Amino acid sequence: MNPDDLFGADRTKPAVRQVYGVSGNGKSVFLCESLRNACRSSRFGPKHRFVVFDVKHEGYESLAPPVPNIPTAIQEMDKQKISVVHPQIEDSFDQLDDIIEWMFDMADYDREFSATLILEESSTFIGSSVGAIPPSIKRFATQGRSKGLTLILVNQRALSNKWADTQTSSITCFRQAIPDRKLLKDRWGICGDTMDEKLKKEKFSFAHLNLETLELEYFKAIKIPKIRNPIVKAKSRYSGLLRNPFL
Ligand SMILES: Nc1ncnc2c1ncn2[C@@H]1O[C@H](COP(=O)(O)OP(=O)(O)O)[C@@H](O)[C@H]1O
Ligand SMILES: [Mg+2]
Repeated sequence: MNPDDLFGADRTKPAVRQVYGVSGNGKSVFLCESLRNACRSSRFGPKHRFVVFDVKHEGYESLAPPVPNIPTAIQEMDKQKISVVHPQIEDSFDQLDDIIEWMFDMADYDREFSATLILEESSTFIGSSVGAIPPSIKRFATQGRSKGLTLILVNQRALSNKWADTQTSSITCFRQAIPDRKLLKDRWGICGDTMDEKLKKEKFSFAHLNLETLELEYFKAIKIPKIRNPIVKAKSRYSGLLRNPFL
């Protein structure tokens, strides 16, 4: 699998990709390092933007200094390719609506614009019934594809939402919770127990299931670079707070 494909360099694929597996098995590290490469890849045009929306506030700080809200993120994305948003839980639904609306507005305004939204802990936002999906996410999934918008749903458990599956082009599986292994079998005919046997052999390894072809591929754990060069360097705006006025 080419990580570029995961993040939507190809406009012909359904807009949603899922990444799931039990906590601590390497999902965020994999996404973070893949994003670092994607930000430098020529497969994404100069008008592509990546947004990590992370209510957990962990794992992506080495890409860009996190911002607390969408207005700040939008402002910064004038100049930078990626923004890491650490929303507060209380207004995270509103903030998610705002970033999705911005992506659609931009795509309508400029045909060359495209974007990838990485939604960490997506079960915070997506429930098990169709009625429990925010309209903005439904819109993203159904209309995003033709506008070059891609949504990565990251979660510890499989989304028990059939609707999400119909909009999904692939699932990247890290080690699965037991009920989710059965679900792989029931939904896609993939033996989850066999998959777990393989993934168990190498920590942080993962599998990629293409839902269009039902092709299943296994991958070794990614290597974390010794130096995690940020895509966006921390700004000196913080240094003002630390400067000693008496010097
Ligand atoms: N490919 C890897 N190589 C080495 N260590 C890793 C790798 N992936 C994850 N880790 C370690 O495991 C920890 C948890 O990984 P993380 O990606 O945060 O898990 P998840 O997002 O699935 O909960 C990381 O902080 C890191 O120390
Ligand atoms: Mg994580």
